[in-house]
Amino acid sequence: MAEPDASVLDAVASALREARLVVVATGAGMSRESGIPTFRDALTGLWARFDPAELATEDAFRRAPARVFGWYLWRRKVVRAAVPHAGYDAVVALERFVPHVVVVTQNVDGLHRRAGSGRVLELHGSLERFHCLAARHAYPAEAVAEPLEDGEVEPPACPHCGSPIRPGVVWFGELLPEREVAAAWEAAARCGVMLVVGTSGLVHPAAALPRIARDAGAMVVEVNPEPSDLSSLATVVCRGPAGAVLPALVARLEGPA
Ligand code: APR
Repeated sequence: MAEPDASVLDAVASALREARLVVVATGAGMSRESGIPTFRDALTGLWARFDPAELATEDAFRRAPARVFGWYLWRRKVVRAAVPHAGYDAVVALERFVPHVVVVTQNVDGLHRRAGSGRVLELHGSLERFHCLAARHAYPAEAVAEPLEDGEVEPPACPHCGSPIRPGVVWFGELLPEREVAAAWEAAARCGVMLVVGTSGLVHPAAALPRIARDAGAMVVEVNPEPSDLSSLATVVCRGPAGAVLPALVARLEGPA
């Protein structure tokens, strides 16, 4: 896929140079080029006969804890084998040119942290975190071993209350983590530029962030090879994959102003 016009990239680069705070809001498309299957793609092979809506809910976990827990450990294994692509490095590099960069992600793969971004708000949790079902007591990720075989895995019991340990992700019908949401909403309202990367803009409440930024006067830049529900809201659209567009923007910041 070709890069967007040089003049578009120049305009975004100059806005990035001026900004004191930049928010990078990412979704599943950000991880495509790292080979991480999206939520729906994830149901291949062993898991193909299940509907994600039947695995990613508290109800499903209560009904079939070993199945749901095993699915999440399989997804964690896939993510651990993936490597953050050049677009992730570009998001880290932004921190050299902008005083404050906040990454707000809907992804649970932890790739922004692994790439080295300093401030990452994970709105939908992480495959690397666990807590108990009843009281949300934290449970150390190192204590959840990689199973020898893919399939059902009985969740451990909470050492404090005996309740089963569940993945630290936000399931359908659950509220997003309060602190992350508050910080993300505040950053959206204060940023000079918001880069919206690889999200279809369909899943709420995360989809509200670009509008908050736009209403507060920020330049909203969509980075996506395809049009999305957010395209009409964007100030500028960069049609292209994250792994090409984001490094191209940083290359401009590195060059003469
Ligand atoms: N670079 C940038 N964007 C890309 C790329 C790429 N290489 N490849 C695909 N995209 C775009 C697609 O065009 C699409 O607009 O990424 C977007 C992915 O959209 P979704 O799959 O809907 O992902 P997302 O917006 O993150 O919403 C899914 O729903 O199931 C829940 O919690 C789950 O966070 C997840 C959310």
